[in-house]
Amino acid sequence: MKLLTIFFLLHLHIFFQTSSPQTLPRNTTGYACNLNQSAPSCQTYAFFQAMGPNQLDLASISDLFSVSRPMIAKPSNLTSLTSTLVPNQALFIPLTCTCNSVDPTRNLSYAKLNYTIKKDDTFYLVSTNLFHNLTTYQSVETVNPTVVPVNLTIGQDVIFPIFCKCPTKTELQNQVNYLISYVFQPSDTIDSIASRFGSTTTSIVEVNGVDIRPWDTVFVPVSRLPELMQPSPTNVSSNQKSDKRREVIGLAIGVGVCGVLLILISCFWAYRESLWKKKMGKNEDDPESKKFEVGVSLIADVSDCLDKYKVYKFEELKEATDGFDERLVIQGSVFKGYINGKCCAIKKMKWNACEELKILQKVNHGNLVMLEGFCIDSDYANCYLVYEYLENGSLYTWLHGNNTKRLSWRRRLRIAVDIANGLQYIHEHTIPRVVHKDVKSSNILLDAHMRAKIANFGLAKSGCNAITRHIVGTKGYVAPEYISDGIVSTKMDVFSFGVILLELVSGKEVVNEEGKALWVEVYENFNGNDKNLKHELKGFIDDAILMESCSIDSVMNVMLIAIASLHRDPSRRPSMVDIVYALCRTDELFTDLYEDGLSTRQVIAR
Ligand SMILES: *[C@@H]1O[C@H](CO)[C@@H](O)[C@H](O)[C@H]1NC(C)=O
Ligand SMILES: *[C@@H]1O[C@H](CO)[C@@H](O)[C@H](O)[C@H]1NC(C)=O
Ligand SMILES: *[C@@H]1O[C@H](CO)[C@@H](O)[C@H](O)[C@H]1NC(C)=O
Ligand SMILES: *[C@@H]1O[C@H](CO)[C@@H](O)[C@H](O)[C@H]1NC(C)=O
Ligand SMILES: *[C@@H]1O[C@H](CO)[C@@H](O)[C@H](O)[C@H]1NC(C)=O
Ligand SMILES: *[C@@H]1O[C@H](CO)[C@@H](O)[C@H](O)[C@H]1NC(C)=O
Ligand SMILES: *[C@@H]1O[C@H](CO)[C@@H](O)[C@H](O)[C@H]1NC(C)=O
Ligand SMILES: *[C@@H]1O[C@H](CO)[C@@H](O)[C@H](O)[C@H]1NC(C)=O
Repeated sequence: MKLLTIFFLLHLHIFFQTSSPQTLPRNTTGYACNLNQSAPSCQTYAFFQAMGPNQLDLASISDLFSVSRPMIAKPSNLTSLTSTLVPNQALFIPLTCTCNSVDPTRNLSYAKLNYTIKKDDTFYLVSTNLFHNLTTYQSVETVNPTVVPVNLTIGQDVIFPIFCKCPTKTELQNQVNYLISYVFQPSDTIDSIASRFGSTTTSIVEVNGVDIRPWDTVFVPVSRLPELMQPSPTNVSSNQKSDKRREVIGLAIGVGVCGVLLILISCFWAYRESLWKKKMGKNEDDPESKKFEVGVSLIADVSDCLDKYKVYKFEELKEATDGFDERLVIQGSVFKGYINGKCCAIKKMKWNACEELKILQKVNHGNLVMLEGFCIDSDYANCYLVYEYLENGSLYTWLHGNNTKRLSWRRRLRIAVDIANGLQYIHEHTIPRVVHKDVKSSNILLDAHMRAKIANFGLAKSGCNAITRHIVGTKGYVAPEYISDGIVSTKMDVFSFGVILLELVSGKEVVNEEGKALWVEVYENFNGNDKNLKHELKGFIDDAILMESCSIDSVMNVMLIAIASLHRDPSRRPSMVDIVYALCRTDELFTDLYEDGLSTRQVIAR
């Protein structure tokens, strides 16, 4: 029976090796990826078991992987952020997996993790002991060609490539949404892994082949993340008890300090509120006391991220911006500043607007503007958020400003994919889901390499399908169902994204001089068959795109995605997941035709 199975597997192996291009050769330097088959980046998870003695708490593991504790706790079914972990306790670590070009012959798929070298570290020890063989020293050397492995200095930053893989389009069609990175243990069999993750032996073999050695990373295809059974927090074995007690004392001190802070801040709040009320006279409105509660709960929420972000002193920010000099205003209440020589963007807001901080601490993605730290100015009840500074400014100025350089079509397509990836992340990979609510070209920022990042989560809302009577947003971008019924859902971001696609295609402002929205114009003009569309597109397309040689089919595809995203019925709009893949396909189409030498002009002339 066993022989038969082996025989069968061998056959399978040969079958997949020859017929499926997906099984790429294994190599200690990493796992190859092919941009023709899978997305350039995706969100995935690594299976990780806590091991002693330094990894038996969530904080040290979240530091190691540069994510917040809730981001591990949620997918891992942990109820407490502070209790100790037991040896071999299973966790799912979120990773942002990307396909990277490391040498001309191969592109490798991995999640970039920043690791700061400590005393006695070697690439080998960190890979095997800290990252549990989710990477290899050979791969670390490949990814850091400028670092001399035998001469590491303490405090040096090294990128550790954590092995991961994005599903191919075929896999996605077959409902494989994640390929979980799992390090094959000597006691494992493919069958045992399949049953552990609710996958199947054949699908694991399909992705990984059968030639799996201990400590290889295997990618387990699953449609959704399995639920991990976690020991109840009270179940602590006796030899851990002394550890536990120390932890409890530490925790008590921690809680004490936090408590004092909380009380201080609450007192300050109460004081401000009373002052304010006095000033306003007899205004004893209910909403005010509600505001107070919001303030206190915000502190509780924010305290969770105090360890992840730098807390700046108000004086530091004042110095960084020359006392908030008007000349350093980037836009609205956002200032450019230099902190320790590093350029950053500093946003000033009222304390109660600090909701953004609550949302930002939950998100961590390459296509979202990164928060570096914050500051609370108690004298004026202001809150400041410090972000990374993005050199190339907003998409709005690139499209509509008096910038002489125009964006090429390829660049526009890449920007669209970046925005779509960022939105997909907040819609699908945060718990609860986040709706940005103010997606528009002036909230899309471009970094030095012209990669797009979504900024300004000031209006964002976590939790979905809410109904609100307080309508906010920007004219020309807000979805009709939100204006008429106040319905908040991820589909309203899809609508706004559709409007950005129109901007990218047409280079036009979203509201014209007569006050008519661009999307209304599209509703009126683009109805009917494909032929008609092509004709209409000619008049609609940005001259800058017409001037270059690029495929009109590619522009057309984006236009079709835009039209689908602008559907009046929110339930019939595509999800961001669908959009990301449709856009990636468009990107390919572009390459193919481009290489054939077809130009927009030629195609349009036909
Ligand atoms: C792994 O790939 C690199 C090129 O990326 C090659 O130089 C090396 O020889 C390969 N190693 C093995 C064991 O195949
Ligand atoms: C990707 O596809 C293009 C054309 O479709 C082809 O020329 C190229 O070789 C492919 N690259 C890989 C790595 O398969
Ligand atoms: C690696 O990716 C780059 C794009 O980032 C692509 O141009 C190149 O052809 C890829 N190389 C291989 C061998 O797949
Ligand atoms: C790693 O950290 C250093 C300094 O903290 C930073 O300059 C660098 O951009 C980081 N790299 C990545 C990939 O996050
Ligand atoms: C990693 O692999 C090495 C062998 O290469 C093994 O000795 C070590 O125990 C593994 N580490 C973990 C944490 O499994
Ligand atoms: C080791 O690194 C230090 C600082 O990075 C450098 O000064 C020294 O020359 C290096 N030594 C060797 C042998 O490369
Ligand atoms: C989470 O873990 C508990 C045990 O701590 C288990 O009873 C439960 O079924 C698991 N799953 C979910 C979704 O809570
Ligand atoms: C604690 O959990 C382990 C499994 O992790 C189990 O074998 C043991 O019986 C549990 N002890 C108690 C007291 O529940």
